[in-house]
Amino acid sequence: MRYEGSLHICVTRREQEEFLKQELALRLPGSQCNELAPQVVALAGASLEDLTSFPLFFSSQLLPNALSIEAQSISVWTTTILTHLRDSFGDSVTPWSLHVFEPLSAETGEIYARAELIKQELRLLLKQKRRSLIRSLQDTCSPECALIQVLLISKTSGYISISTPTERALCRAAVSRHEAGFCPIPEDKSPPSRAFKKLREAIEVFGLSIGKGSTAVDLGASPGGWTHVLVEHGATVAAIDRSPLEGAIARDSRATFTQGNAFTWIPSESVDWLVCDVITTPDRTFEILRKWIGERICRNFCVTIKFKGDPDVQALLHIGRFLSEHTTWWDGRQLSHNKNEVTVVGKV
Ligand SMILES: C[S@@+](CC[C@H](N)C(=O)[O-])C[C@H]1O[C@@H](n2cnc3c(N)ncnc32)[C@H](O)[C@@H]1O
Repeated sequence: MRYEGSLHICVTRREQEEFLKQELALRLPGSQCNELAPQVVALAGASLEDLTSFPLFFSSQLLPNALSIEAQSISVWTTTILTHLRDSFGDSVTPWSLHVFEPLSAETGEIYARAELIKQELRLLLKQKRRSLIRSLQDTCSPECALIQVLLISKTSGYISISTPTERALCRAAVSRHEAGFCPIPEDKSPPSRAFKKLREAIEVFGLSIGKGSTAVDLGASPGGWTHVLVEHGATVAAIDRSPLEGAIARDSRATFTQGNAFTWIPSESVDWLVCDVITTPDRTFEILRKWIGERICRNFCVTIKFKGDPDVQALLHIGRFLSEHTTWWDGRQLSHNKNEVTVVGKV
C-alpha cells in the first residue's frame, strides 16, 4: 500500500486495534488509517502536530515519521539501520537510544530473539564502522536522547523511526522512553492489591510528582493499593470506599478511611491530588472529574476510566475535550498495567 506524505505507526495492545482506529478516524477524519499487522496501525495524511495535539489513548508506542525496511537477513537489517543513522546524524554526537522490538512486546515487555540479534549485530557493526555513534549510544532513553525505533513486523520487514529530542517533547508520553511502550513495574508484596502497579506506572509514564506533605483523596480506595503508593510518596490520604482498607495500610496513621459514596463525598478543603479508581461507567467517572475540576476541589488528578465491554471511544474523546478546556495540562493512555480502562492525569 502506498501512502501520501509522512507515515506514523502506532503499536497498540493486543485486540485494541479497532479502538485505536476508531480514535484516529474520529480525531483526524481526513487521514488514512490502516492495520498493517496485529497490534500495528499506520496513519498517513496527518501532521505530527495534529496527531499529538491530543493524547493517543489506545497507542502504547508511536513511531513518528516511519520509513519501511525490507531486509532478507540480519546483516541487511543492520546495514540498513546504519544507513538511516548516518543520514540522520552525520558526524554529530547527539546522545541516542535504540529500541528494536516486535509488536507483542507492547503487551509483555518481552524482547524476542530476532530483535535482540539485530541489536547485538548493530552494536558490532558500529564498533567497526562508527565508533563515535557507539560512544553516544545510551542504555536509558533520557529526554536529551534521540530515539531510534525499529519495529519488526515479520522476519524480513518492518519500520524505522528516528525522533529528535524536540520531536519527543512534542509527542509527550505518546513516544515512550520504554521499549514498545511497555513500562515494567516490579512485583511488590507490601500493598494489599496489585492495582498499585497502575498508579506506579502512571507516576513513571506521565512524570507525576506527588510531593512529600501533599494532601490526597483516593476515591474507590479499597483494598488500598493506590493509598499505599500515595503514602509511600509522602502524602496524607483520605481513602473513600464502601469497603474498608486492608493490610498494613489500614493501620497506617497517614491514611484515614471513610466509608462513603465516591460520587458524593467531598473534602472540607481542596486537596493537592484526586486519585480515583472506582468501578463504574465512563459517564459517571466524567461526573466526578467535572465536579472536582470544575469546582477546583483538587489541583492534580489521576483517574481511571473503565469500560464494561468494548471501550467507548466517543465518550473518551468527549472527556478529553473537557480536560483540554478546563485544565492547564493533561494526558492519558491505556497503560501497560491497565485492564479494560484508560488512565487520565492532569493539573487543574
Ligand atoms: C478497582 S477497585 C479499587 C482498587 C484500589 N485502587 C486499590 O489500589 O486497591 C474499585 C473500588 O471502587 C469501589 N467503589 C465502587 N463504587 C463505589 C462508590 N459508589 N463509592 C465508593 N466506592 C466505590 C469498590 O468498592 C472497589 O473497592
